[in-house]
Amino acid sequence: MQSPPISQAEIDARIDPHIDELLALWWTEQGATKPNDLALIASAIPFPRDQPIRALDLCCGPGDVGRAIRKIYPDAHIDGIDRDPFFMSICRAVNQRERIPGKLVVRDLQDDGWLAGLAGNYDVVATVNALHWFDEGRAGQLVEDVYGTLRGGGVFLLAEPAAAETPFAVGFEAWKAKQPPRYSQENWERFWARANAILGYDHVALWGPRDDTRIGDTMSVAGWIRLLEGAGFGLVDVLLRDADQVVIGALKAID
Ligand SMILES: C[S@@+](CC[C@H](N)C(=O)[O-])C[C@H]1O[C@@H](n2cnc3c(N)ncnc32)[C@H](O)[C@@H]1O
Repeated sequence: MQSPPISQAEIDARIDPHIDELLALWWTEQGATKPNDLALIASAIPFPRDQPIRALDLCCGPGDVGRAIRKIYPDAHIDGIDRDPFFMSICRAVNQRERIPGKLVVRDLQDDGWLAGLAGNYDVVATVNALHWFDEGRAGQLVEDVYGTLRGGGVFLLAEPAAAETPFAVGFEAWKAKQPPRYSQENWERFWARANAILGYDHVALWGPRDDTRIGDTMSVAGWIRLLEGAGFGLVDVLLRDADQVVIGALKAID
C-alpha cells in the first residue's frame, strides 16, 4: 500500500467529526450478519468474563472484533494491527472514546517481524475478513506467527470467506445464489465515496492493483482448518458456517 498524501495527524483531524457516520457506513458495507459473527467470536472465548484478558485484533480495520470482545470482557486489553492508516484512525478514535486500553500499530503484515513491539503472549487473537487478503503461503505464515504469539491455552478466532470443496461447489453456489447477499457493490461504493470525500484524496487508489494470488473467497472450510492445523493448533472447531463465511475457533495447547 502506498503512503497517503497527508500525515496520520491530518487523517485523524479530517475524519474526527465524521467517525460515527463512517462507522455506520462501514457496518452497512460489512453486511447485516456481521454483528452476529462478532458476538459469536466474543462469546466463544473460553475464559471467565471478569478476566483482564489480553487480545490482539489482527487486521483490525475500524476495530469491530476488538470492541465486540471488550463488550463481553469489560477489563480486556485490546491491541490492534492494520496496514491502513485511515482504518486505524477510526479504530483509535473509537477505542479512545470507549476508553479501551491497548496498543494500535500501523504495519504491513506482508513484512516479517510484524509482531515486533506488540506485547505477545496473548490470551486471544481474533481476525475478521482479513487472512483472505493474503496468498496461501503468507496466510499460513501469519497463522504460524499467531500460534507463536499466543500463550499456551490461548485461542485464535477467525471469520473468513469460505467456498465449498470441488464436488460440492456447483450445488453450493446454486444454493448460495438464493440466499440474501451479505455484501453489495453499492454499499462498498457508498462507504468509499464518502471516505474519499472526507479525506480529500482517493484512498482506494493507494492499495494499488488487486493481488490475483490472494485467497479471496476460494478457500474451503477444510482448507482453513488445514492451515490452522499446519501451524500447530491441535484443537480446531467450526463454530458457524453460512453462505459466505466460516467462523472457526482454534486452541493452542498448554505445553
Ligand atoms: C475487510 S477489512 C476487515 C477489517 C476488520 N477486521 C473488520 O472486520 O472490520 C480487511 C482489513 O485487512 C487489512 N489488511 C489487508 N492487507 C493487509 C496487510 N498486508 N497488512 C495489514 N493489514 C492488511 C486492511 O487494511 C483492512 O483493514
